[in-house]
Amino acid sequence: MATKPQVASLLVYLIISAATATAYSRRPHPRRPCNELVFFFHDILFNGRNYNNATAAIVGSPQWGNKTAMATPFNFGDMVVFDDPITLDNNLHSPAVGRAQGMYFYDQKSIYGAWLGFSFLFNSTEYVGTLNFAGADPLMNKTRDISVIGGTGDFFMARGVATLMTDAFEGDVYFRLRVDIKLYECW
Ligand SMILES: *[C@@H]1O[C@H](CO)[C@@H](O)[C@H](O)[C@H]1NC(C)=O
Ligand SMILES: *[C@@H]1O[C@H](CO)[C@@H](O)[C@H](O)[C@H]1NC(C)=O
Ligand SMILES: *[C@@H]1O[C@H](CO)[C@@H](O)[C@H](O)[C@H]1NC(C)=O
Repeated sequence: MATKPQVASLLVYLIISAATATAYSRRPHPRRPCNELVFFFHDILFNGRNYNNATAAIVGSPQWGNKTAMATPFNFGDMVVFDDPITLDNNLHSPAVGRAQGMYFYDQKSIYGAWLGFSFLFNSTEYVGTLNFAGADPLMNKTRDISVIGGTGDFFMARGVATLMTDAFEGDVYFRLRVDIKLYECW
């Protein structure tokens, strides 16, 4: 049978280890990125006349809209699927280092706002692998943060935040996004 001093020291030990475990689990991750990358991607929306250049198409629209023009108000209800070139600078004609593939849909009726879900697919001398993105894109914000929810290949298990900025916007047909990626988890 355990003696009183043994029980007491066991209790002290348990309290200290519980406190240490709590301290460790609450310790914030360092707010320093382990990798930073900047890309641009270029979206050319099909408008009924530009099939050869288009990299994106409206695949769903509300009952009052159609698939060659964004719906009013605020593009609400339009869903777009895209396969856009990714470049290292803001020139559409620079060699692509990968493709941004996925979708966005406009989900706000009283202001421009979308939800993005897409992947960057790299298969170039720079990078091989994927990065996956998801999140709300409140378009009236100069910058918008979305989540980098994972990756493969060179970006195995990556996680972080991507800051989007509309770098160019030409009518409803072309836009260019600057994507500043900060990864906080790298393997
Ligand atoms: C599609 O909608 C736009 C704007 O709402 C309109 O100007 C255009 O005529 C429509 N196109 C077709 C083919 O219905
Ligand atoms: C990546 O590029 C290599 C070399 O061009 C090719 O063999 C491979 O099939 C490509 N992989 C993908 C997923 O596109
Ligand atoms: C949009 O901008 C507001 C104000 O600048 C900011 O608080 C908010 O976090 C931004 N939203 C996103 C998703 O970046």
